[in-house]
Amino acid sequence: MKKIHIGLLGFGTVGSGMVKILLENREVIESRLGASLTLKWIAARDLEKDRGVAVDASLLTTDAEMVIDDPEIDIVVELIGGYEPSKRFILKAIENGKQIVTANKALLAAHGDEIFSAASRKGVEVGFEASVGGGIPLIRSIKEGLVANRIRGLFGILNGTANYILTKMTDQGEPFPKVLKEAQALGYAEADPTFDIEGIDTAHKLTILLSIAYGIPINFKAVYTEGISKVTPLDIKFMKEFGYRIKLLAISKDDGEAIEARVHPTLIPNDTMLANVNEAYNALYIKGDAVGNVMLYGPGAGMMPTGSAVVSDLVDVARNILNGTHGRVPLVGYQPASVKARRVKSIEELEAQYYFRFSAEDRPGVLSKISGILGKHQISIKSVHQKGRDLVGAVPIVMITHKAKEAGVRMALSEIDHLDVVKDKTILIRIEDER
Ligand code: NDP
Ligand code: HSE
Repeated sequence: MKKIHIGLLGFGTVGSGMVKILLENREVIESRLGASLTLKWIAARDLEKDRGVAVDASLLTTDAEMVIDDPEIDIVVELIGGYEPSKRFILKAIENGKQIVTANKALLAAHGDEIFSAASRKGVEVGFEASVGGGIPLIRSIKEGLVANRIRGLFGILNGTANYILTKMTDQGEPFPKVLKEAQALGYAEADPTFDIEGIDTAHKLTILLSIAYGIPINFKAVYTEGISKVTPLDIKFMKEFGYRIKLLAISKDDGEAIEARVHPTLIPNDTMLANVNEAYNALYIKGDAVGNVMLYGPGAGMMPTGSAVVSDLVDVARNILNGTHGRVPLVGYQPASVKARRVKSIEELEAQYYFRFSAEDRPGVLSKISGILGKHQISIKSVHQKGRDLVGAVPIVMITHKAKEAGVRMALSEIDHLDVVKDKTILIRIEDER
């Protein structure tokens, strides 16, 4: 049986998952591929560390450059993460004519165009199925399964760590630091968990999806990003009373003229499908103009789910090697000459419903002052609850608005937060109701 030789860079959570799958599912993979995926090298820093998977010590090396330069290696798998040395390793491997598989969304969201251009020039593939949605085959579904469609919208829960934290805070009332530690122990979190919590990882993933959905160049800076670090148990309690769940959502809409691209904590009605995606599960709700609405759901992070996506890329790339072909599917799903920049709307252009929590003094006339300012900025109130007369000092006034323009909302809140009866910065959370 023909052997396809693999050099793995990085033997952490995802690398161990990939190796475990190659060992445990060897038979089924070979019977599908008609060739053997043979691990020749595994590069890591610490060769003594127990990875929970038994490999021959002769495969292990600390010398990633040696792996990249080995003429027998067909596919280099980069599972180190971060920007450097991963970028340098990938570009060198491309220069050496190796096929590439990576799960590194941070790198692709920053330098994807450079990596894809280098790979196209060299005629090699870059598989990145594991970079978005963990084990869910999102990338291939958009590039191939939905190829007939113009994509009109994307709504995604794309970060397992953030979804795990919000689920535990909502359902069990557990404190943020405790659940973050659990997510880290389960192998979901990034090396720097700020990326998970502050929405940066979700924005990296949305950046990649925007490119393959709309055929636009990689443009991370265009994605408006807010994380979940300011979500409080008090807001979770109030939003439950209004019939919402809170999710860190990646949202994009294409109205034909311009694109929306934003990541922020979002209230969604309890009875929507996305509201019921919990723990470290991810989901992407895709609006195609021909197919209608499609939702892909599954485990969004962790050793085995992500390893599964990496191995799917290995098989895909190996099939091309076996058939002596490449470029059958363009790297971002669009022919390079068709990739064109589009206008991305600023957050001020957004029109949405909002949840506000004001912290105000409990005395006559306060509510009318606040609603007067909202009215002046064309913001109409759908419902309002004033909570906790028994509390001393500031009391929370919670409001849901009808659709309003974000530019007006920002001006109104800035005026309201300067009122002497308002004691704290107003909490704003956007609401979406896509079904
Ligand atoms: P880990 O931190 O668990 O693993 C990183 C590995 O890289 C470690 O084995 C480390 O070695 C190795 N490494 C670091 N520097 C070098 C170097 N210079 N040469 C060789 N090896 C090196 O990360 P993950 O497995 O969690 O993540 C890997 C990638 O997959 C990242 O891009 C991440 O964003 C992405 N990803 C992760 C998911 C997850 O659920 N964890 C899901 C989807 C994508 P050592 O162990 O010896 O220190
Ligand atoms: N840290 C990421 C998450 C890993 O929690 O979703 C999967 O990309």
